[in-house]
Amino acid sequence: MARLAVVLLLVVATALVLRWRRPAWYWMTFGVALAALRVLVRYASVMDACGLTVPPSRWRLALSRMTDRPAPEPRAPRILRLRPTRTGLVLRLKLRPGQDAFDVSAATDRLRHSFGMYGVTAREIRSGVVELRMTGYDVLKRVQMPAKIDRAPMRIPVALREDGSVHYRDYRTVPHGLTLGATESGKSVYQRNLVAGLAAQDVALVGIDCKQGVELFPLARRFSALASDQDTALELLEALVSHMESVYQLVREQQRISVDVPDAEIAADIWDLAEDLRPPPVVVLVDEVAELALFASKEEEKRRDRIITALVRLAQLGRAAGIYLEICGQRFGSELGKGITMLRAQLTGRTAHRVNDETSANMAFGDISPDAVLAAIQIPADAPGVAVAGDSTGGWSRIRAPHTSLRAAVNLCNKYADRTPYVPALAPFRPAVASSASGALTLNKASTATA
Ligand SMILES: Nc1ncnc2c1ncn2[C@@H]1O[C@H](COP(=O)(O)OP(=O)(O)OP(=O)(O)O)[C@@H](O)[C@H]1O
Ligand SMILES: [Mg+2]
Repeated sequence: MARLAVVLLLVVATALVLRWRRPAWYWMTFGVALAALRVLVRYASVMDACGLTVPPSRWRLALSRMTDRPAPEPRAPRILRLRPTRTGLVLRLKLRPGQDAFDVSAATDRLRHSFGMYGVTAREIRSGVVELRMTGYDVLKRVQMPAKIDRAPMRIPVALREDGSVHYRDYRTVPHGLTLGATESGKSVYQRNLVAGLAAQDVALVGIDCKQGVELFPLARRFSALASDQDTALELLEALVSHMESVYQLVREQQRISVDVPDAEIAADIWDLAEDLRPPPVVVLVDEVAELALFASKEEEKRRDRIITALVRLAQLGRAAGIYLEICGQRFGSELGKGITMLRAQLTGRTAHRVNDETSANMAFGDISPDAVLAAIQIPADAPGVAVAGDSTGGWSRIRAPHTSLRAAVNLCNKYADRTPYVPALAPFRPAVASSASGALTLNKASTATA
């Protein structure tokens, strides 16, 4: 008897310690079973308390009157499925006549604490069927990507969403992206995750890092082109524009359409070409975009205008040529001068890390969703990497990228260095890298600048 008590005590103590120190492990060992039990036991009363039941139908009332039975109870949505996941539970409900998905999503906060879960989100799967995704603990506190991720070309699993699902950066559906955030909010780490994900794919990476290259130059071995100042950036962007034009020529040759069809009206893109003809897609990563838009003199202003024009052209026409922009900055508004809002309108994939004021958040989400603006302002300063990201359905969710260290990203880039495709137009900007025996990188920046 005493031994049983000791074992029980040990189990409870282990559970408590796990729950405190390792919520993910706690969830997998004890949490999931307890939570599933709790949800099933409390289901009817919680739904009733949250106003998610419908009164019994007329024929049931009549039947009970005829058979002299007590009046039937109000009915909650029927549970179609309860599925445990790595981070929580997924409950699929069939709504009763007269209920709608909005009722359920309006009640998610009440459901959350009634079921003792950390977070609950609701979404409609099809007419009358709603999925409640519940998380058992704060999955964004310590981001762990699931082991099983569906991989597809140009679709990078870059972060974890609040509801435990994976957030993808899919270049084929959302070609251009804008990432905003105050300093130290995690923009560069997010971008680093993208590079780490793209490194293993057949894609040319182009980096413009006006912070003297501190973020992207360590990853140079996987990059086809790098620029660390405005002058090189301008040459690089103009080379990209001419690369884009030559890709259009190639697509047009394959289509055999006459030459006077304007580029933008060509429906086909590089993905329609045969694989052996297809030029590699190019992802252009720009860190600290404001640096490209600032100028001090007339001379610099001219350069600035040419840079912005090239960026706008790439954003407008790049997609079909397989050129994708990924732009990062602290602010990206009209105060940076002409052309900026036009460029911003082309950048569909918005992500906002912590921002200091509403206007910065508005630059990302003002024209999309006021809720998302509010959520971006509320990101706490002690959680770098947490961001609000728009998704393909027009909604948004809170995400956080895993904390990939620069070392880990460098190792990945070195591992896949041989995947760096040869793009003739970008060859002059290819960083010259000499690797020493220890694997450390030395960089010959002069050769990139003078190219
Ligand atoms: N996803 C994350 N998880 C945990 N920590 C993170 C995450 N992202 C960033 N951090 C921490 O925040 C620090 C700042 O991140 P980062 O350098 O990406 O900020 P930034 O927005 O690029 O800042 P700046 O505008 O100054 O370049 C990092 O050194 C890292 O320690
Ligand atoms: Mg940065």
